[in-house]
Amino acid sequence: MTKIVEAIDYNVFIGTDLFDHISEFLISNGYDKRKIFLLADENTMQHCLPILVDRVDCLKEVDVFEIESGEENKTLEICSHIWSALNEVNADRKSLLINLGGGVIGDMGGFIASTYKRGIDFLNIPTTLLSQVDASVGGKLGVDLDGVKNIIGVFNNPVAVFADTSFLETLDSREVKSGFAEVIKHGLIQDKSYFELLLNSDPSDLDWATIVHASVQIKNKVVLQDPKEAGLRKVLNFGHTIGHAVESYRLNTGNKLLHGEAIAVGMIAEAWLSVKFCDLSTKELDKITLFIKSYYPLDLISEESLDEIMKYMLHDKKNEGEAINFALLKCIGEASFDHVIGREDILKAITFYNSIV
Ligand SMILES: NC(=O)c1ccc[n+]([C@@H]2O[C@H](COP(=O)([O-])OP(=O)(O)OC[C@H]3O[C@@H](n4cnc5c(N)ncnc54)[C@H](O)[C@@H]3O)[C@@H](O)[C@H]2O)c1
Ligand SMILES: [Zn+2]
Repeated sequence: MTKIVEAIDYNVFIGTDLFDHISEFLISNGYDKRKIFLLADENTMQHCLPILVDRVDCLKEVDVFEIESGEENKTLEICSHIWSALNEVNADRKSLLINLGGGVIGDMGGFIASTYKRGIDFLNIPTTLLSQVDASVGGKLGVDLDGVKNIIGVFNNPVAVFADTSFLETLDSREVKSGFAEVIKHGLIQDKSYFELLLNSDPSDLDWATIVHASVQIKNKVVLQDPKEAGLRKVLNFGHTIGHAVESYRLNTGNKLLHGEAIAVGMIAEAWLSVKFCDLSTKELDKITLFIKSYYPLDLISEESLDEIMKYMLHDKKNEGEAINFALLKCIGEASFDHVIGREDILKAITFYNSIV
């Protein structure tokens, strides 16, 4: 059954066979009479595009732009190639860009569309768990610059999102687990019963459409109240202050962690901070720690890496000035934001993380 979440001014369709809905959406909005372009990477070209063009008639002749997969390609240089390609094929203001892929394709394709000729429509078909549960709502689009993630970008929304969980079947299990970290986060910050469901389920029994639907609803509820992250939306950053710094550090060592794997580390350390600076009980801290530990292979954070990790944290764009800002848990299912925490306590949180690894 198809589930629909009403986002700010578009719908997110969630289900296992959404191709008829995609056709109907394109036709009823007149896109079948306009130029349609599609952005994909080599993996979604191979695994997702053939199914899409086979099932959606008006995409049979779609012009495809293929880029290489990976965060290292989420750059202005690649945008520039795609802008040029759009210009060469005379894409006009009425054209539609379909982004078929994970968060890299969605963030960058959305940014390309939002800036080409001051903005053309774009439609997202997220194909990873992370992009379905997280990037499908919220309007954050952009690219990386000088190794800093998402530093160039805009807020803008697609005309629709179709999160078809059958695409997850070809996704590497490590990528599925990475996306699952955001799912755990959604339970932790907003919904205790959702967290308990995750805790008590065998991961292989989970119905992804149900999970994507629940997570999109949680994120959407937060984003609708605070679209531009002036306040409440910051709760979505739980696990991300330390997590992002660890992710950036590891990226530059060549021993890369996936986003969710780094957020898993961040959630453990920030749960410890939640006991010290918010109301989280030690019993709940243990529950969170054990669950995350059972799911992710966790590595020690070395003594030598701490200075670098702290530097990344200071440069995080979520901060204002020199203060390092955290979203913390009051309890499982409820979060609060704008906790300013100093270096010593952050180091203690990392020491706690190391003690349980
Ligand atoms: N805009 C937002 O709100 C938001 C939220 C979360 C993350 N993000 C961004 O998303 C990016 C990470 O997203 P991601 O984890 O989806 O990464 P990704 O786009 O790099 O995809 C991960 C890998 O899976 C492959 N892949 C995608 N779909 C596949 C499929 N169905 N079958 C087989 N392989 C497939 C990709 O080619 C890639 O190699 C980051 O750049 C992050 O900043 C954005
Ligand atoms: Zn995240």
